[in-house]
Amino acid sequence: MSGPSAQFWSEHYRRGETGWDRGAANPQLLRWLDAGGLQPCRIVVPGCGSGWEVVELAQRGFAVTGLDYAQEALDMCHERLAAAGLVAELVQADVLEWQAEQPFAAIYEQTCLCALHPDYWVAYAHRLRCWIREGGDLFILAMQAARPQGQEGFLSGPPYHCDIHAMRALFDQSRWEWDKPPYPVVPHPLGVNEIALRLRAR
Ligand SMILES: C[S@@+](CC[C@H](N)C(=O)[O-])C[C@H]1O[C@@H](n2cnc3c(N)ncnc32)[C@H](O)[C@@H]1O
Repeated sequence: MSGPSAQFWSEHYRRGETGWDRGAANPQLLRWLDAGGLQPCRIVVPGCGSGWEVVELAQRGFAVTGLDYAQEALDMCHERLAAAGLVAELVQADVLEWQAEQPFAAIYEQTCLCALHPDYWVAYAHRLRCWIREGGDLFILAMQAARPQGQEGFLSGPPYHCDIHAMRALFDQSRWEWDKPPYPVVPHPLGVNEIALRLRAR
């Protein structure tokens, strides 16, 4: 198997080494919500981590499914939901294996793709398309984590760089309708940026 395992992520949560965690919902999610571009619906959040976005969406009336294979992350998410008196479905599963019983109206993908070794990207993109109904929206925060050219070990661990051209090839236009650029750029706590993409499932 290429890339990090479930144990890798669980250990990071156990040790509190979660530099990717903003401690709040992603500001771009708030912008999409406040602009009305994302309205209450059935939505799935793969690789939901400690759940800031799950809580925000539940708070705003979405029927949310949070998916992660680290139980430690789901426990944190559960605590956050309980503290806010909110409910969401939390599922411990591998995103490369899990199947949706019914298609979702939207997917909020925040840095799960960059957590997967690129060997799995095609399979993951196929999963995402299977989880969503035709006309549904995929919101992606694509991590810009390019290492300098020639640096060794660029595939040694996450975050893997989600280059915009790789994204356009992965989420190809026969299956996904793209907005025209420019795309919003969102600073990430790891000192890099995310590109915010919204794709409509054909
Ligand atoms: C970089 S963290 C991002 C967490 C959260 N989305 C955030 O932005 O704070 C990646 C998350 O994806 C989860 N993850 C990675 N690979 C996964 C897989 N194959 N199946 C399910 N969850 C996975 C990890 O457990 C971790 O919680």
